[in-house]
Amino acid sequence: MVLISGRGSNLQSIIDTISDGSLPAEMRAVLSNEPDAYGLERARRAGVETRVVNHRDYKSRRQFDTALMNIIDEFDPGLVVLAGFMRILTPAFVNHYSGRLMNIHPSLLPDFPGLDTHQRALDAGVKEHGASVHFVTPDLDGGPVIVQARVPVKESDDADTLAARVLEREHVIYPQAIRWFAEGRLTIENGKVLLDGMPSLDRH
Ligand code: GRF
Repeated sequence: MVLISGRGSNLQSIIDTISDGSLPAEMRAVLSNEPDAYGLERARRAGVETRVVNHRDYKSRRQFDTALMNIIDEFDPGLVVLAGFMRILTPAFVNHYSGRLMNIHPSLLPDFPGLDTHQRALDAGVKEHGASVHFVTPDLDGGPVIVQARVPVKESDDADTLAARVLEREHVIYPQAIRWFAEGRLTIENGKVLLDGMPSLDRH
C-alpha cells in the first residue's frame, strides 16, 4: 500500500519494478491526501485501486489519521510505503504500523531532516548529498535507515539540478528496500536495520 501527496515519481518506480518482475510484491492500493495528486493518475493507469482522504475534511490530525488507518487496514497490507506523503503522522498511526511503515527522505539522514533539504544542503556547502529509505518511528525523519544513495554536489548546482540527481537514485533505492522487506531480509535490532543479519548501511 502506497501513500502519496503529489507527483508520484517514486510510486511510478515501484509500479515499474513490480511490473517488470524484479519486485516480488503486490500493490494493493494507492492513497492520497490530495485529490489532484498526479500519482493517482499513475496508479489508475497501472490498474491499482486508489483512495483519497482529504486532510482538509478532518478537524484534527487524530481524526485524519484514524480515517487513514481505517482505509489502509481494509487492504490489510504487509507494508505501508510513504512516497512523497506530505503529512506528519501521529504517534498512534506510526505505532500501529510499527516495523512495516517505510519512508523515503531526500537527504543523507541524520543530516537535513524536514523540508527544503536540497537548498539546505547547498547552503551548508556539503560535497555529498543523497536520499535515505528508513523505517518510520514517531521521531520525524529519525527512524532506522535501511539504505542510502549518495550523489556528488556540483559547483554549478541549484536546488533543482541537485534534486533531480537525487531523485534518479531514489527511484533505485526505494524499490530495492521494498524488495529486501518483501524477501524477509530486514530486521531491526537496537534501533539499527540489519540486512541478512548484517548492518545494512555498511553494505553500500
Ligand atoms: C521525493 O523527493 C521524496 O524523497 C520526498 O518527496 C519527493 C516525492 O516525489 N519524500 P515523488 O512524488 O515521488 O515524485
